[in-house]
Amino acid sequence: MPTVNDSQAFWWQRPDLGYVNDELHLAGHSLAALARAAGGPAFFYNAERLRAKLGALRDALASTGLRNRVFYAMKANRFAPLLGFIRTTGLAGIDACSPQEVQFALGCGFDEEDISFTATSVSNADLDILARHPGVLINCDSLSTIRRLGERCPGRDIGLRINPGMGLGYGDNDKLKYAGAKTTKFGIYREHFAEALATAREHGLKVRRIHFHVGIGYLTGQLPEWEKILEVCAGFVDDTPDVQSVNLGGGLGLPHVATDKPLDLKAWSAVIKRRFGPRKVEVCVEPGDWIVKDSGVLVLQVNTVERKRDTDFIGVDGGFNLAVEPTAYGLPCEPVPCVRRPGNTQAVTIAGNINEALDIWARDVPLSPLREDDYIAFLNAGGYASAMSSNHCMRGQFQERLLYPRD
Ligand SMILES: Cc1ncc(COP(=O)(O)O)c(C=O)c1O
Repeated sequence: MPTVNDSQAFWWQRPDLGYVNDELHLAGHSLAALARAAGGPAFFYNAERLRAKLGALRDALASTGLRNRVFYAMKANRFAPLLGFIRTTGLAGIDACSPQEVQFALGCGFDEEDISFTATSVSNADLDILARHPGVLINCDSLSTIRRLGERCPGRDIGLRINPGMGLGYGDNDKLKYAGAKTTKFGIYREHFAEALATAREHGLKVRRIHFHVGIGYLTGQLPEWEKILEVCAGFVDDTPDVQSVNLGGGLGLPHVATDKPLDLKAWSAVIKRRFGPRKVEVCVEPGDWIVKDSGVLVLQVNTVERKRDTDFIGVDGGFNLAVEPTAYGLPCEPVPCVRRPGNTQAVTIAGNINEALDIWARDVPLSPLREDDYIAFLNAGGYASAMSSNHCMRGQFQERLLYPRD
């Protein structure tokens, strides 16, 4: 087995996440102790990490010299205390992708004017609900939506979600691209843009915003590609007479493995400044993952330690239905024992409790020794885990807790 040095093995350590006396801590709390108290699968999120990420994002945007706004994409994590916390920071509004999300955000204390709505395959029933919330910033992603919204709300300011025909995603993973060579369902293509503007005009709608979201998880090495996409999108902005604002979507990536480096926000904001600085528009972004993913962990309990043929299996009390990204998108998964026991690391395969062959968390990962009843924290579980979970096999129960720092 290849040897792994400490800096590689613990690449994810940071001041609020790491071992203290061989117990894994998040925000000053022992995760094993929290998990024991929870008594079953549990997600823990560090509130201060969220605030720090939002602050860093706002600072980076401020460095462009442009007016700016952040809308947190609540599809990544809609745990009500987490949304309430984000609201109290005053650093971000909400990106909602369904009328239900809009209503939930309102219930968590956000104002209509702080909610940006961008969705796909929007029904008349959806539009009827949105029509009752005149302050919500709606971005239409099809000509059909423009027409049907116009019939309900003539004169309303709208945004257009455009599709530049170029996309990018973590590790160049095609499943994470929302635009590209292959035609996708998202947004209005260049060849339909004039008709989109005309349809809006016909219904007295004013196009104030250009919106795009082209993929998920891009890192620093992909910024040149992202800049080319921004250049194309800026062309749409230039062709929109009443435009006031451009929304660059989400998709900012985080490290998933030791060799990934955090997204360089300075370089990221420099790209924005180069492309939109001269245009003097307001710049908005709507990341979900980048804000919440690394603030959260999913803690599961080991119930089985057993060798089957040539494989050492570790069975845990939660399956892929609680965090689908590793199986659905092939994103790397980082399991970390909550208590580091003495002894050599051992390559183990971690299996969930769902009766599906694909329910494997990680294969042949080198971990410190584990025993039955121990706990494992799965990192980067703050985004698209609880929010996408299902009750498959009726094993969908979990708890969630927002942690505040403890010394
Ligand atoms: C329109 C839109 N905006 C923002 C996001 C958030 O993306 P991320 O969480 O990768 O930042 C998504 C994700 O699907 C999206 O579809």
